[in-house]
Order: sequence, then C-alpha cells, then structure tokens
Amino acid sequence: MANLHSQLLLLLILVVSLFLASTQPSLAHSRKLILQSPKKVADSHHFGSLNDVRLYLERFGYKEKPLDNDLTKDTLTTESSLYAAISLYQQTNHLNVTGKLDSETVARMMTPRCGMPDVFPSGGKGGSRYSKLLHVVGRYKAFDNMIPWTKVNITYTFATTIPLVSLEALRKSCQGAFQHWAAVTPFHFLEAGKGEHGDLTIGFYSGDHGDGSPFDGPGHVWAHAFAPQDGRVHFDGSEQWSTTTPTSEEIDLESVALHEIGHALGLNHSIDQNAVMYAYIGQGVVKRELQQDDIDGIKSIYPPK
Ligand SMILES: *[C@@H]1O[C@H](CO)[C@@H](O)[C@H](O)[C@H]1NC(C)=O
Ligand SMILES: *[C@@H]1O[C@H](CO)[C@@H](O)[C@H](O)[C@H]1NC(C)=O
Ligand SMILES: *[C@@H]1O[C@H](CO)[C@@H](O)[C@H](O)[C@H]1NC(C)=O
Ligand SMILES: [Zn+2]
Ligand SMILES: [Zn+2]
Repeated sequence: MANLHSQLLLLLILVVSLFLASTQPSLAHSRKLILQSPKKVADSHHFGSLNDVRLYLERFGYKEKPLDNDLTKDTLTTESSLYAAISLYQQTNHLNVTGKLDSETVARMMTPRCGMPDVFPSGGKGGSRYSKLLHVVGRYKAFDNMIPWTKVNITYTFATTIPLVSLEALRKSCQGAFQHWAAVTPFHFLEAGKGEHGDLTIGFYSGDHGDGSPFDGPGHVWAHAFAPQDGRVHFDGSEQWSTTTPTSEEIDLESVALHEIGHALGLNHSIDQNAVMYAYIGQGVVKRELQQDDIDGIKSIYPPK
C-alpha cells in the first residue's frame, strides 16, 4: 500500500508538472485523480482535485472555511483563489513562496503529517486573521488558552479499538516516549490499573471516530492529540506502523507517540525542522529523542523546580 502511495506521489508530481506547463487552472492530488488515466488529467472537472487542495488548506488552518455550503456544490476552485493560502502554506513550511502549486508544494502536502492544524484562526475577518503568523519568530510554541497539568503522576490507559499492533508493542513504544518527557519534566507517567480511566487515553482509530477530527485513511495525517487536560492521543489505524525499525514505507510509532504526547502536555507545533514537535515526519524516519527546542518548550510550560 505504501509502495503504491509513493508511486502515486510520483504520478502526482508528473501530473502537476504537465499541468503547470498548460495555462488552465491548476490541479493537484486526490485519490480519485490517481485512479484516472493520465489522459483525463487535462479535464479538471472530472476529479475536482483543486477542491481537495482547498479542503487541505482549510483543514490545516491556512484558509478560512466558507461560511455556507456554496463551495461544496459545483463551484470551481481556481488556483488564484488559493493564492494567499498557498503562499501562507509555503511560508510556514519554508518553501519558495510562489503562491502556486509547484511540485515541491504538492509533494509537501503529500507528506504524512500530524493532524493538528498549523495555523489556528482566532477570529476576525479576512486577511487580518492570519497576520499573526507572519510575525512568528520563535521555534517551539505552547498552546494558548490551555490548562497545563498540575498533578505530578499522570496516568494513561490504552483504549484501542483496532488491534493493529499488539498491546505489548504499543505499550513499549509509548513507554519509550514517556521516558523522554519524564526526563525533562516533573512528571511520572504510570499506566492506570485495569478498569481505571487514565488521564491520557491512547489508541488507534480509523475514519470518523467521534471527536470531530476524522482520520483520512492512508497517508496525509498519521495522528492527533488534544491539548491539556483533555488527554486523548489518537493514531490513524489506516497507516502502516512500525514498532521496531521502520522500513521506508512505515511510520515509526515511538517517534509519533513522542510528538503526540508533546501535544497532550501542551506543546503546539514547532517550526524547527529538527524538533520532535515539527508537524511533519516522513515514512522511515526515526525521531525518538527530544531536541533542545522541544526541551526548551516543555520547560517553558513546566519549569524545573
Ligand atoms: C526554490 O527555488 C530555487 C531556485 O528557483 C530552487 O533551486 C529550489 O530548489 C527551490 N526550493 C524549494 C524548496 O522549492
Ligand atoms: C499554535 O500555533 C499557531 C502558530 O503556528 C498559532 O496561530 C495558534 O494560535 C496556536 N494554537 C494554539 C491552540 O495555541
Ligand atoms: C506518585 O506515584 C508514586 C509511585 O510511582 C508514589 O510513590 C507517589 O506517592 C505518587 N505521588 C502522588 C502525589 O500521588
Ligand atoms: Zn502535531
Ligand atoms: Zn481522534
């Protein structure tokens, strides 16, 4: 499946390059597109894939969601209508800011990532809504308006609905991740006793799983977690996870657990590409050690005594 996915990515890049050579409104990926023969690519409203780009930009906070359902009908999304959102995406992701769907931009959108948005619209109207982001200079970030944990012993429960990896393997990956956070915080992380409800609940879920953030099947989004003191940490059950050494097609569970626990403790995404709290991680990448940026971030929330 993941191999298929990387082939699809290549096809996509090809498709986009072909497209950029033409003057019609551009398009990008969608699974529907991928199933079409390359010939159909010239005919953009058969797959509406620019719409998928728009949904992606909305989903991760780069573009306002339309207030009504107009756009979910047959309205054509044009590349120029996405100019500001694409530019913001490129700026945030350290790509060349062209405002266009060039192949690097589309390839980045295809990289599996965390489901937490990068930009959180905070109200206001039009362009001013995102102006805050243009002034970000820090690297790590704590969530705004959260209630940090005040207890020292934080318990966790595995609440998995999909037996994708064994409970033993999930426990081992999470224990590895917890150890790293425990080393730089006042916390002790303990598995709750049988039948008890832990402060953190960790598990695999697929599709719409009742928390308002449905998973999207293979690729794109691999996990998400909620800010304190919610405690939910969810992994996408449609991905290929590794609990040992990931192949180039698998996602390293311990690395992702380390990142998501960071959210559960109150860290937002960092713009430091080396940080565990950076939003993206590719298949086969192992990031099981906290970086200085992550440590500075967590200590800003929970200063050492
Ligand atoms: C940015 O543009 C330069 C020159 O046009 C190119 O060499 C480079 O690969 C581009 N980088 C990205 C991340 O797109
Ligand atoms: C997370 O960081 C973004 C900037 O990257 C910021 O706009 C947003 O308000 C933060 N979210 C929360 C919930 O603190
Ligand atoms: C935290 O758990 C440890 C056992 O690991 C126990 O000795 C300690 O009393 C607990 N502290 C609190 C505040 O509950
Ligand atoms: Zn994240
Ligand atoms: Zn969830």
